[in-house]
Amino acid sequence: MTYKLIDGKAISNSIKIEIKESVTDLIREHSIKPGLTVILVGNDPASQVYVRNKRRSAIETGMFSTVVNLPGSTSKEELLSRIVTLNHDDNCHGILVQLPLPDHLDENEILASIDPEKDVDGLHPKNIGLLSMGSPRFVPATPFGIKEMLMRSNNDPKGKHVVILGRSNIVGKPLSNLLSLKTQGGDATVTLCHSRTKNLEAITQSADVLVAAIGIPEFITYEMVSDGVVVIDVGVNRVEDKTRERGYRLTGDIAFEEVSQKASAITPVPGGVGPMTIAMLLHNTLDAAYRKI
Ligand code: GUN
Repeated sequence: MTYKLIDGKAISNSIKIEIKESVTDLIREHSIKPGLTVILVGNDPASQVYVRNKRRSAIETGMFSTVVNLPGSTSKEELLSRIVTLNHDDNCHGILVQLPLPDHLDENEILASIDPEKDVDGLHPKNIGLLSMGSPRFVPATPFGIKEMLMRSNNDPKGKHVVILGRSNIVGKPLSNLLSLKTQGGDATVTLCHSRTKNLEAITQSADVLVAAIGIPEFITYEMVSDGVVVIDVGVNRVEDKTRERGYRLTGDIAFEEVSQKASAITPVPGGVGPMTIAMLLHNTLDAAYRKI
């Protein structure tokens, strides 16, 4: 089988061009410059890279963007007070608290403190609820990016069996909701698998579309998939590699070399889902600013 690479970088670039045009219109016609604030608590190296990329991309599309760097020891009260200030700041349309947070901070409590109208990450309980009820406001960026990738690469999930590995609040659960909505880009039959799933291989073999978001390097192997499968790899795993200057390489949850022999389409790591997540975050930030007209 010859596979088609789903180029997340190229698709995200075309989305960013669309966004940049809308940002220009919004500034010209309504004097509103979309603003994104990203909060990073602690100094996790991967999170630092993600946050830097989010800010840089926001600025590239003409938005205003700042990063609030807080020490890993930041108290719950301090973080909540920063969020309340941003909730009331008219120049800030989108707030994103980078996850994971240090252990002493309760993620759910922090996410719930963000104004739902500024929750461009779509992780506030109200936005999660709206998504699962079928009237989404802000869709979490990674699931949203996956839907866009499928649609823009002519792999409409409608009527297909989509198998998702991983039940996280950021990816697996909202993606299962999104792809089963009665709407364009939805209408899939979704199976959500996780670490307690029995007969996993039988399920992954029955997938028309397979999404891996479990954080285990090269977990999905040749035997686990069927010919013609469309594969979306959400994993970004740092695997030690002494031949590289930085000492590691990035590997997805899919054994790319072997699985690509059966796939009809597949995303690379890096350059697949990652850039799409950023593009859809910018989409949500633009949307949040448009709601202020
Ligand atoms: N950490 C990894 N992915 C994400 C994301 O999409 N949003 C947030 N807030 N943190 C993340």
